[in-house]
Amino acid sequence: MCGIFAYLNYLTPKSRKEILELLVGGLKRLEYRGYDSAGVALDSCDGKDIAVIKKQGKVQALEDEILKNEKLDFDETTLSHVGIAHTRWATHGVPSEVNSHPQRSDIEHSFVVVHNGIVTNYKEVKTLLQHRGYCFESETDTEVIAKLVHHLWTQHPNYSFRELVEQVIQQLEGAFALCFKSKHFPGECVATRRGSPLLVGIKTKTRLATDHVPILYGKDDFPLKAKEGDTAPQDHRPHGRGSDLPIIPRSDSTSEFQPLEDKEVEYFFASDASAVIEHTNRVIFLEDDDVAAVKDGALCIHRLRRLMDDPHAREICTLKMEIQQIMKGNYSYFMQKEIFEQPESVVNTMRGRLNFRDDSVTLGGIKDYIPEIKRCRRLMLIGCGTSYHSAVATRQLLEELTELPVMVELASDFLDRNTPVFRDDVCFFISQSGETADTLMALRYCKGRGALIVGVTNTVGSSICRESHCGVHINAGPEIGVASTKAYTSQFISLVMFALVMSEDRISLGNRRLEIIEGLKNLDNLIREVLKLDDKVKELAKSLFQHKSLLIMGRGYNFATCMEGALKVKELTYMHSEGIMAGELKHGPLALVDDSMPVIMIVMRDPVYVKCMNALQQVTAREGRPIVICEEGDKETIALADRVLEVPKTVDCLQGILTVIPMQLLSFHIAVLRGCNVDCPRNLAKSVTVE
Ligand code: G6P
Repeated sequence: MCGIFAYLNYLTPKSRKEILELLVGGLKRLEYRGYDSAGVALDSCDGKDIAVIKKQGKVQALEDEILKNEKLDFDETTLSHVGIAHTRWATHGVPSEVNSHPQRSDIEHSFVVVHNGIVTNYKEVKTLLQHRGYCFESETDTEVIAKLVHHLWTQHPNYSFRELVEQVIQQLEGAFALCFKSKHFPGECVATRRGSPLLVGIKTKTRLATDHVPILYGKDDFPLKAKEGDTAPQDHRPHGRGSDLPIIPRSDSTSEFQPLEDKEVEYFFASDASAVIEHTNRVIFLEDDDVAAVKDGALCIHRLRRLMDDPHAREICTLKMEIQQIMKGNYSYFMQKEIFEQPESVVNTMRGRLNFRDDSVTLGGIKDYIPEIKRCRRLMLIGCGTSYHSAVATRQLLEELTELPVMVELASDFLDRNTPVFRDDVCFFISQSGETADTLMALRYCKGRGALIVGVTNTVGSSICRESHCGVHINAGPEIGVASTKAYTSQFISLVMFALVMSEDRISLGNRRLEIIEGLKNLDNLIREVLKLDDKVKELAKSLFQHKSLLIMGRGYNFATCMEGALKVKELTYMHSEGIMAGELKHGPLALVDDSMPVIMIVMRDPVYVKCMNALQQVTAREGRPIVICEEGDKETIALADRVLEVPKTVDCLQGILTVIPMQLLSFHIAVLRGCNVDCPRNLAKSVTVE
C-alpha cells in the first residue's frame, strides 16, 4: 500500500542533505506497508525549481539515485522548505519510474503531488483535461490530480494554494490522501484526505501552548491572533466555543493566517505515525475532507462545509507508542492486524465497482472481454493454497449465475494431469502475490493452448498480471503475514462480483442478484460483528491448543471455510487439521470421532442445513463434542453443540466470508498460545516462486 511522507521546515535551517535524509528516512519507516517504487520532490539548487527524483524498486535504490544526482547542492542550507515523498504500490499502471510519485502537472513542475488510494473517476477527469490540451505521460490515476490543480490555477490565478486543492477534491471520486507542493507557492504545503489515512506531525522547540488546531469552515473562517508571549504557533490555539482567545474576523473571504513572527516549526505529513514518531509525538489525525495547509509556518485546517455536530478543532494527540507498535497499530502481529482490517479491505475491493445506487457492477479490467467470456465453453479457476480455496468458495455461485461448467483446480495438480484446455475456455488464475510459480506455469500452459487468461491478483505489475489478457485487481492492500487472510475475503468478493457481471442481463436472476448486492452492501458491518467474537474465540483456543489434531466439517457454501480453516490451523499452529466435507463423514472420517477428538462443525440455515444437522447428529451419536459455528439464534443447532460461535446471517453464497473469520481468529490464537511465529510460520514463504 502506498505511503506518503512530507516534511516542511519553517525558520529551521536545514541543508538539502538533511532534508533528503529526513524524506528518505520517512519512506523507510513506511516500507513495511509494501511498495514497488519510490520518489521525492524538493526545491532544486537555485530554489526556484522543483527537483523530482523517482526510482522503481526499493527506497535504498532511490537513495542511491539521489546521491548520484550532480545537479543537487547537498550542502546548501535553506531556512524554510517543503519536501514531499512517496512509496508507491501500483494500482493503475505497472511499477515504473514514470508511474511513480510525485506526479507532476507539467515539465516545469508547477505542481507536484503524492497520492495514496484510487481515484475512481480519473478517466472522466483525464478526458476533460485532454480536451483542454493536457498531455499525459503516466498510466496513473494520480497524474490527473497534478494536471487538474494546474488547470484550476490557470483559471483562478488569485486562488490560494489551499483553495485550489479544495476545488480539486470536489472533482474527485474514490479514496485518497494527497500532499501537494508547488513552484508557485514556495514554502507552502497542502494535504487532504478522503478514505485514506493521513496525519500531521508538529515539532516545535518549545512546548505547544494548546492541544487543538481550529477548523476553519467555508463561511466562517476566522483567523486567530496569537496572545503575547505565546510559545507556539498562533494557529494551534483553540477556536470557537469555550475559547477565551480573541478572534479577529477576516476582512476578505480567504482564510489565510497572519504570518508567525520568528516562530520556528517543523511539520510532517505521513500516512501513519511510524514515519513521524522519531521526530515528534505530537500529531493530528486528519478526517475525511479536511484540507490542511501550511503557509508562512502556520497550519490551518479547513473544511468546505460545516456539518451538524462538526467539531471546532482537531486535537493534537500525544503518541505514547513505540515504532514497532505503530506499524502494527494496536495489534501484536501483522496477521492479526490484517484479520481486523477486513471490514475496510472488503470495501476497497468493491469500491468503484459496485454501485449501490443503481445496483450495477463494473469490473473495468475485464469489461471489454465479457462478451467473449459469455460465449465460452467452460470456466476454469486455478490457484494454490488459500487462493485455490477462494475458487472453491465461489464455484457454486459461478455455476448458478453463469450456467457454465466451472472447474476448480490446484495449479500443481492441473499441470501434473496435462489437463485438456481449449481455445474456448476461460481460465482464471487467482493469486495474492501474482508470482506463485505453479499458478504462473499453469497460466502459460493455458495461454499456449489459446484460452482466454484472466488474472485475479492483489499485486499490480506482478507476473500473473502482466501475462494475463485481462484481470481483476482485488485491492486488499498489502498482506504481510504469510498466512493469507484479507486477500482470501477480497478474492472471494472479486469472484462474486464477476458472477454478478456475467448475469447482469438475466431477468430470471434479477432478484437473486439484488439479494447478493444487498448482502455485499452490508458485509463490512457484519464482519465487524463477527470480529467481536474475538475474546470468545480466544477462550476456545485455550481449550484446544494442547491437542494434536482438529477436524473441521461442513458442506455446500461453507465447505471452503473448512478447507481454508484447516489450512490456517496447519500453517500457523503446526497442529494436524483437516477440512472434511460433511457428506463424506460416513465414508471414513467418522472413524476419527470420539469424545476426545476436537471437532468444529459449520452449520448454516442454507440449502444444506438439514444435511448438516444430520452430520452433527452423527458426530454427537459417537460421543463427539462439536464446537459449532452457526447462525445467530439457531436454537435447534445450538442444542446439539458442546460450545458455539454464533455469526450473523447473510446471503447463503456470502456466508463463507463470515464463517472463515472465526477460523482465522482461532488459528491465530492457537498459534500465539503454542508460541509459534505467527507472521512467518516455519518452512513457509509468502510468495512461492519455485515449483
Ligand atoms: C503460499 C502461501 C499461502 C498462499 C499460497 C498461494 O503457499 O503461504 O498463504 O495461499 O502461497 O499464494 P498466492 O500469492 O498465489 O495467492
